[in-house]
Amino acid sequence: MTADTGLTHSETSIQLNHSHNANVRGVLDAFGLKAGSTVSGVAYGGGFTSAPTGETLETHDPTTGEVLAYVKTAGHPDVSRVAAEAAKAFERWRLVPPPQRGEIVRRLSDAFRRRKEDLALLISLENGKILSEARGEVQEVIDICDLAVGQSRQLFGRVIASERRDHQLIEQWHPLGVVGIISAFNFPVAVPGWGWALALVCGDTIVWKPSSLTPLVSIAVQQIFHEVTGGTEAEGAFSLAIGRGGVVGEALLSDTRLPLIQATGSCGLGERVSVALAKRSGRAILELGGNNAVVVMADADLNLAIWAVVFGAVGTAGQRCTTTRRLILHRPIHEPFLERLIAAYRTVRIGDPLDEKTLMGPLISLDAVSEYEHGLAEIQRQGGEIIYGGKVLVDGGGYFVEPTIVRSKADMPICREEVFAPILHVFAVDTLEEAIEINNAVPQGLSSALFTTNLSTTERWLSSTGSDCGIANVNAGTSGAEIGGAFGGEKATGGGRQAGSDAWKGYMRRQTCTINYGEDLPFAQGVRFEAEQATRKRDGS
Ligand code: UN1
Repeated sequence: MTADTGLTHSETSIQLNHSHNANVRGVLDAFGLKAGSTVSGVAYGGGFTSAPTGETLETHDPTTGEVLAYVKTAGHPDVSRVAAEAAKAFERWRLVPPPQRGEIVRRLSDAFRRRKEDLALLISLENGKILSEARGEVQEVIDICDLAVGQSRQLFGRVIASERRDHQLIEQWHPLGVVGIISAFNFPVAVPGWGWALALVCGDTIVWKPSSLTPLVSIAVQQIFHEVTGGTEAEGAFSLAIGRGGVVGEALLSDTRLPLIQATGSCGLGERVSVALAKRSGRAILELGGNNAVVVMADADLNLAIWAVVFGAVGTAGQRCTTTRRLILHRPIHEPFLERLIAAYRTVRIGDPLDEKTLMGPLISLDAVSEYEHGLAEIQRQGGEIIYGGKVLVDGGGYFVEPTIVRSKADMPICREEVFAPILHVFAVDTLEEAIEINNAVPQGLSSALFTTNLSTTERWLSSTGSDCGIANVNAGTSGAEIGGAFGGEKATGGGRQAGSDAWKGYMRRQTCTINYGEDLPFAQGVRFEAEQATRKRDGS
């Protein structure tokens, strides 16, 4: 599609590095992978299985569109075997004292430190995110591992004052079981890592169904798991089942051996997971779509705001759940801010994600390019006006598009949807109240950010009548959260929380225990129930 935008700057070109294909070999080689070869996408019991029964999928290099490798996926019998083996591994792993489980996670953290560059290169190659962001993603895994190691000595319950004499009332936490982790292409390591690092110290074992768009990254990570856990009590704690949602995903959702499913993806995926788990009273931790807004008030430090919006909207080619998708500008700074934003967009170098100078790599797939095109066509049909970008960049076979800015109206139906591409809607408002109303007027509720130097404006934004999102920032953008805080969102985003804070509780089962160390049996709430034969009086009568 070539959008007729008037203001579009079609001089955008892709900076493709001629050494890209030569680099591919080295990047794959670091994990013993060969371009064009066929590899197994199923692992359990500490090793890969050689002959998975599912179909073979192709994984592509989004920079060139070429096939990187073929992956044999899990069929129904494989998924069942993987779940059975993970359940067996759980029987052993739950007996290991938590700080010793933490020691395994510490070794994993060391391994990710050692393999950081290799893994970042592979993420950048297969996912298309730029190297700096890919390195950041591996760092996010290292960070959550470090947090989990500390957490392994802090899986604390509570002692509660009992209303009954000579009674102890406690809450304690036990391992939960096999955790199913369904992860997306856009954070192929960090987001599943939030789950497995905590689940492992909590005494759980893992069945991982990664995105079929980034299978090689998950195979490389599984290799690291095997290297670290081989010959330890954690052997078999990690298993992998790459395959179609309709085969692997559906099987995991209905498998009662998995008490918990952590799923990241679209709101549609969340609905399927919720319905399936509700049927069997399973537990879900969901992180679904975002439709994140930045509000910039006239009193803001505009330099900070521009920088944050460019990173938030263009970073990861607009394919983060936390990507800035809506920009709400206070009318007095509306036009000058847009001018500066467009000037900043013009400097964004699009091209080979393995090249250190690139700021925006390709989208993940041809389907993603179509989503971008259809999104823009629909935006224009609904009255939106493209003021920057809007074009697919087709040179070289890769999946490149221009980052795009659109003058939209907040009540356009498409502004309520998450189009997973670098498209930024811009609206002007007269007041903070109007900005909050627009921020909250979408089905999703993941991340939000306000730029201001005014204290009252800040407090209003963070108050219970301010942003309704799981993440509400001030003078910091919508994306790039640290692992220390709970991560997740409200409404259609699913309500789940992952990563730091007290997210570990989601991976354990809580048990409330009443211990009577007296000689009477007083009932709570003062209830009297003294059946003659059963009542033993202290005086023996
Ligand atoms: C996601 O896009 O699913 O806050 C996760 C961020 C990253 C995680 C994004 N730390 O942008």
